[in-house]
Amino acid sequence: MRIRVIQLGYFITFEGVEGCGKTTQIKLISEFLLAHGVHTVLTREPGGCPIADKIRSILLDADNKALSPLAELMLYAAARAQHITEIISPALTAGKVVLCDRFSDATVAYQSFGRGIDRSIIDTLNLHACQGVKPNITVLVDCDPRLGLERAIRRIEASTGPREERFELEVLDFHQRVRAGYLQLAADDPARFMVIDGSKTIEEIFSVLSRQLLSRIPEDLRAV
Ligand SMILES: Nc1ncnc2c1ncn2[C@@H]1O[C@H](COP(=O)(O)OP(=O)(O)O)[C@@H](O)[C@H]1O
Ligand SMILES: [Mg+2]
Repeated sequence: MRIRVIQLGYFITFEGVEGCGKTTQIKLISEFLLAHGVHTVLTREPGGCPIADKIRSILLDADNKALSPLAELMLYAAARAQHITEIISPALTAGKVVLCDRFSDATVAYQSFGRGIDRSIIDTLNLHACQGVKPNITVLVDCDPRLGLERAIRRIEASTGPREERFELEVLDFHQRVRAGYLQLAADDPARFMVIDGSKTIEEIFSVLSRQLLSRIPEDLRAV
């Protein structure tokens, strides 16, 4: 059964390979929108709520080398279903602007283009997990995975938290397929995707992104 969500808010997702700068930019954009009086909710996948965060720790734990591609896919779908039900749908129904660090396109890019799972299985799972919720805009921070991985590994080395590096440890060829997958998705849906050059500086990317996003968010959601 699919539940149709009445989407009064605005849903923006951030996508791209490891280390392209998603988390950096989404935090800056969230602060920027809040400063402009936009009611903003910042969340991430996998995770975003306590149950989905538990699933996240399984998915990103580098010790879980034996996790099968199909089990991995279904864990993502389970985490997404919970996250939509608990966080995303209520926020959209309340007229908020929801910013989500990775969403359903990541599953297509990683599990289909990266792992080679049949696209129709992924599309079916996404259809049910998303429960009618669809991003209004998807920001694709595009960069060469070699550059992204260099940045991501430096960030992991500097961090004191859990080493969420199961994907960083994949071979370069995997990440190249993921990048190509994202670019294909963007080419298939240019009205939804905003492709940004992630090799630029943090400030340059933010300057372009903040201007473009603010101009696309509906006027009535900007009023304080
Ligand atoms: N445009 C950029 N240029 C240089 N370093 C960056 C840029 N964007 C992010 N970084 C740095 O690279 C690392 C990875 O960035 P992050 O935003 O965590 O990437 P992602 O969330 O896409 O994996 C962080 O240490 C961050 O400070
Ligand atoms: Mg990140």
